[in-house]
Amino acid sequence: MVKKSKFIPVNVPKIFKQEKIYVKECLDTGWISSEGKFVKKFEKAFSNYNNRVYGIAVSSGTAALEIAVKSLNLKKGSEVIISSFTIISTALSVIRLGLKPILVDSDLQTWNMKPDEVIKKITKKTKAIIITHIYGFPVDMKKILYISKKRNIKIIEDSAEMIGQTYYEKKCGSFGDLSIFSFYANKHITTGEGGMVLTNSKKLYEKCKSLRNLCFGVGSNRFNHEDIGWNYRMTNLQAAVGCGQLKNINQIIKRKREIGNRYRSILSKCSKIYIQPRKLKYAKNIFWVFGILLKKNAAISRDKVVKMLSNYNIQTRNFFYPMHKQKIFLKMKFFKKKTKLTNAEYLSRNGFYLPSGLGLSNKEIDYVGKTLLKILKN
Ligand SMILES: Cc1ncc(COP(=O)(O)O)c(C=O)c1O
Repeated sequence: MVKKSKFIPVNVPKIFKQEKIYVKECLDTGWISSEGKFVKKFEKAFSNYNNRVYGIAVSSGTAALEIAVKSLNLKKGSEVIISSFTIISTALSVIRLGLKPILVDSDLQTWNMKPDEVIKKITKKTKAIIITHIYGFPVDMKKILYISKKRNIKIIEDSAEMIGQTYYEKKCGSFGDLSIFSFYANKHITTGEGGMVLTNSKKLYEKCKSLRNLCFGVGSNRFNHEDIGWNYRMTNLQAAVGCGQLKNINQIIKRKREIGNRYRSILSKCSKIYIQPRKLKYAKNIFWVFGILLKKNAAISRDKVVKMLSNYNIQTRNFFYPMHKQKIFLKMKFFKKKTKLTNAEYLSRNGFYLPSGLGLSNKEIDYVGKTLLKILKN
């Protein structure tokens, strides 16, 4: 019998000493809006970390996607290839600009968009591809990058969940024309809410910077605006937290992998679930979250497992819900009702993730893992 523990949330962030010192400095000096040295400092440090030239700090990963897509200035009706199995922010950033999202199914091992299917879905109208890395492994991007370059298709790399991850030893977020990150509280480094666009192009940098700040005019023309922008600015307070977090990035990544591998050692013999490997040929799992995928032989539904874990005070999160099944998109007729992307559907019906935050203790990991084994009776 496993004794019930206190509530274990799906995520508990870890805040270090340095963040407090930096935030106090903002409060003491009154630099609390988006003006102030920490925003630039964070942009510089984060883009350096990812081997990119420019960084544009924004208010969320969603804002970063909106800005990145808009900065490409694509003609209405252009096709943008995206994953069906991801956060809705990706599809929204495409749809809002009158572009056409073309959905791709997922791979059952990596849970990422299938590279071969991305390539098959390229047409004359394809003007951009958003490569989204999900949960632990990067997309195997080689072929996509090669073909997109040949056909002049723009690439946005969604690295929201991959801070610190590498693809063939090169940082995720350093590929493509632009990349985006999220600093929500469950990300490897957090600013509470926040995001960043990275690029090596001065032109895209200037455009993203302008879009982030309402596309203000220049000099005495300040209030005569140059395009339809947003106020997606990051505050100095948030950037101060980001600067502090970034100082601890190596320790954070190390701990994330420890959490993932500790869960793996408890759960890897269970025949009713699929859990991801420690590594593939192009990357070591970074375990942004620890995902569980029930196999067909599990003989218990995901919803039942999740409910039972919750009775043991363990919070979990279901996997993403595919874009082609979203009520709102069906109502708006973006995707056909009969669209079938069977792997994305399987993942969304049978997948969930365990508490994976940096605040998790080893004792809690063992409790969660053993409780899951007990529920699955393995
Ligand atoms: C892959 C991916 N892209 C984008 C986002 C959006 O980031 P945010 O929540 O900061 O808006 C998320 C959020 O978790 C995400 O997982």
